[in-house]
Amino acid sequence: MGIGKLSDGLAPTPPMGWNSWNRFGAKIDERLVIETAEALVETGMRDAGYRYVVIDDGWMAPERDRSGDLVADPAKFPGGIATLANTIHALGLRFGIYTDAGTKTCQGLPASLGYEFRDARRFAQWGVDYVKVDWCHTDGLSPRACYAKWAMAIHAARRPIVLSICEWGRARPWEWAGTLGHLWRTCWDIQPEWSSVTTILDRQADLHAYSGPDHWNDPDMLEVGNGLSPSEDRAHFALWAMLAAPLMAGNDLRQMSDDVRAILTAPEIVAIDQDARGMQARRVRSDGEIDIWVRGLVDARAFAITLLNRGPQEREVRVGLNGLGFAATDVVRVRDLWQRSDVGERRGEVVTTVASHGAAVLRVERY
Ligand code: GAL
Repeated sequence: MGIGKLSDGLAPTPPMGWNSWNRFGAKIDERLVIETAEALVETGMRDAGYRYVVIDDGWMAPERDRSGDLVADPAKFPGGIATLANTIHALGLRFGIYTDAGTKTCQGLPASLGYEFRDARRFAQWGVDYVKVDWCHTDGLSPRACYAKWAMAIHAARRPIVLSICEWGRARPWEWAGTLGHLWRTCWDIQPEWSSVTTILDRQADLHAYSGPDHWNDPDMLEVGNGLSPSEDRAHFALWAMLAAPLMAGNDLRQMSDDVRAILTAPEIVAIDQDARGMQARRVRSDGEIDIWVRGLVDARAFAITLLNRGPQEREVRVGLNGLGFAATDVVRVRDLWQRSDVGERRGEVVTTVASHGAAVLRVERY
């Protein structure tokens, strides 16, 4: 953490919620959003921590109105955004919206360049709690200056609004975005493919120093339930939790399987993501097939350790505890956080079997 980073209490732990983009693209409407909000409640996801319902690109009409304000596409959102935000708030949820810092959104719709203060004010009037600001159509603009303007505009709108910076990690936002926004993308768009998950993961390995309460690295939204295998879904989710990543579900919550719901709501994995210390994991070993990631927790005697198997076969993995915050002679208590069961006491090392494209998550605690 550095001097000047945000610490306004709006995102003390990584924001959790749902975003329309990964599954629905620009094909969104009022009914989808309300049904999704209801599903968040009915599936227990809200109570597991998923609070923000965020509509991504595709919500706005092709033109601003006569006074220059953004308006919702009347065919997709006939009730308007303020009413939608009310409905979502009434369900005990928060409402998020999308715009773009440039001249048009990535879908070619009106964006906010030159309208930052007006749009922030309008979002505040509508009851918006979270705004994602994208980076398409920004030729020649400075990301730092544009997002600084957004931070000022939100401040001037006088409503607490989480700012999600989305310039894809191009201008090393981890070095400057923490003073402006609550989260910033560190990479290009995720896809529901294992190679995308591991490529993004590799880009996070050196970023742990930059994130903390109210300012988080964002390795992009979740693809859990969008076509990865069950092991891959678990590994993706576990690693995002280790990274203290914002957990934005990106699947269709109205018809997810019990297995997918169980992954997204796994209480002991979510607890790692939401650990109050906000310490993003470091990678301590990587030999091509096996990665080991470690993060400190608010309980200073404990660490979360994730063993990732990128290889094609199940593997037995041995992790020496010496150097991971433990002495060779320490007796530790080990718990398996996917199984939600105690493994027992160990000294010196832990040994675990990890499925191909899977990840075991252990909590190791010194006596
Ligand atoms: C991309 C962004 C995606 C999504 C999309 C919408 O730039 O990274 O997460 O918002 O635009 O068009």
